[in-house]
Amino acid sequence: MTTDLSISISELYADAASLQPGDKEAERLVIEAIDLLDRGVERVADVDPATGEVVVHQWLKEAILLLFRLRSIETVTVGPFEFADKLPLKRGFQEAGVRVVPGASARWGSYLAPGSVLMPSYVNIGARVGERSMVDTWATVGSCAQIGADVHLAGGVGIGGVLEPPNARPVVIEDEAFIGSRCMVVEGARVGRGAVLGAGTILNPSIPVIDSKSGVEVSRGEVPAWSVAVGASRRREFPGGEFFLPCVLILETLTEGERHDKVQLNEVLRDHGVAT
Ligand SMILES: CC(C)(COP(=O)(O)OP(=O)(O)OC[C@H]1O[C@@H](n2cnc3c(N)ncnc32)[C@H](O)[C@@H]1OP(=O)(O)O)[C@@H](O)C(=O)NCCC(=O)NCCS
Repeated sequence: MTTDLSISISELYADAASLQPGDKEAERLVIEAIDLLDRGVERVADVDPATGEVVVHQWLKEAILLLFRLRSIETVTVGPFEFADKLPLKRGFQEAGVRVVPGASARWGSYLAPGSVLMPSYVNIGARVGERSMVDTWATVGSCAQIGADVHLAGGVGIGGVLEPPNARPVVIEDEAFIGSRCMVVEGARVGRGAVLGAGTILNPSIPVIDSKSGVEVSRGEVPAWSVAVGASRRREFPGGEFFLPCVLILETLTEGERHDKVQLNEVLRDHGVAT
């Protein structure tokens, strides 16, 4: 049962310093937990529908950290390519209804929901990519990041990984969000449902998110649902002079369910039956 497994993992983690690589019983438990992540049965974090808050399932992050402690580096070869890692790559994409373009890699322990598409990109352990979401070329989905359904991570987007401490909130991108090219969303930042983040925006929990209509700072590191927001700068006085620090500016708020004209994703890209 998952509850028993979560207790066993947390006990192992509490005593992690005494664990030795090759401890077969510990490894069996950890593999069982990572396999639940890999199959999408469990997830590192989700949004509580009652409170709207992100809830972190710490024991699964503990399992990932234990895995690295227990496993040793092995050489893996793929054709002429050679790697040295502690984890295998994810497998079974076609059966899972996932399209993975050559050059993309996803590590075992990440979950890719049916209909998702990986252009040459990277998805790390503990991360989850929702139904029909597109991870575009050179986008990276860091460990434990939670990407919702019908999301588009445009080219070169960097979604940060959050592994330690185990109770730290991962990056959460909610359903139907669009993250513009080369955005960097890190350290437990959150983008709400249907929001649009303009190309090149930097978002972390220190960055103020400001409403352009009222001038009010609505949050730090959280872009509200259905907002269209871009990277901007704000004036700050320091003893040494006046400088400009980054912020995120909400330009407008879409009506719920509305898609911004500029971010419609050509459906052909998501159709697994069509060669593009
Ligand atoms: C955010 C975005 C959707 C806004 O589009 P829009 O609502 O049509 O807004 P506009 O283009 O009229 O821009 C509004 C203002 O924001 C500024 N702006 C637009 N995008 C910006 C960005 N990414 N960063 C900073 N400022 C931006 C514009 O200069 C403009 O300023 P102005 O009013 O003084 O002229 C769009 O600019 C964008 O970034 N799209 C994502 C592009 C992308 O990554 N595509 C991936 C292809 S796979």
